[in-house]
Amino acid sequence: GLTGRKVNVLVVGLDNSGKTTIIERLKPKPKQAAEVAPTVGFTVDELQKGALTFTVFDMSGAGRYRTLWEQYYREADAVIFVVDSADKLRMVVARDEMEHMLRHPNLRQVPVLYFANKKDIPVAMPPVEIAQALGLDDIKDRPWQIVPSNGLSGEGVDKGIDWLAERLG
Ligand code: GTP
Ligand code: MG
Repeated sequence: GLTGRKVNVLVVGLDNSGKTTIIERLKPKPKQAAEVAPTVGFTVDELQKGALTFTVFDMSGAGRYRTLWEQYYREADAVIFVVDSADKLRMVVARDEMEHMLRHPNLRQVPVLYFANKKDIPVAMPPVEIAQALGLDDIKDRPWQIVPSNGLSGEGVDKGIDWLAERLG
C-alpha cells in the first residue's frame, strides 16, 4: 500500500506538452498506459516515490481548461511545469501562463520543476534556451530546476522527480 508523507504535486503546462505521458512513466511498468489521450479537465493519481506519496494533479493544458489550474494552487506542495521543447511558436504562451501562475496569490513559494520535454525531437530547443525564453533566471523567490526529458522513453523523468523529492523530503 501507500506509505510515507503525502505531498500534492500540480502538473501544468500547455496542451500536448507531454504531462500525462510523463506521469505514466512514474507508474510501475504494468500499470503504464500504452497510449494517452488529451486530458479532459484533470485527473488525480496517487504514486509512491521513495518515502513520499505523491498525489499528482494532472491538469489539462487546453485553453478552455487552464482556468482550472488555480483551483489547486493553494494545496500544491510542488509544481511540475512541462514544456514541449520543440514548440517554439508557443514558448511565449507557455511563459505567459507560467508568469500568471507564479504571480497568483494562492500559490506558495513551492519548488517548480520544469521538464524540457520531447528532447528527442530534432528541432528541440536545448534547456538553456528554454530557460532563457521562459525567463527562469528572474525567479528568485522559490527553488526551480529545468530537466530535459523524453516522456516516451522516460529519459530524464526520474532525475527531475529526484530533485523534487529532495526539496519535499
Ligand atoms: P493535455 O492533456 O492536452 O494538456 O496534453 P499533455 O500535456 O498531457 O500531453 P500528452 O501526455 O497527452 O502528450 C501529447 C503528445 O505528445 C502524445 O502524442 C505523446 O505521445 C507525445 N509525447 C509526449 N512526450 C513526448 C516526448 O518526450 N517526445 C515525443 N516525441 N513525443 C512525446
Ligand atoms: Mg494530459
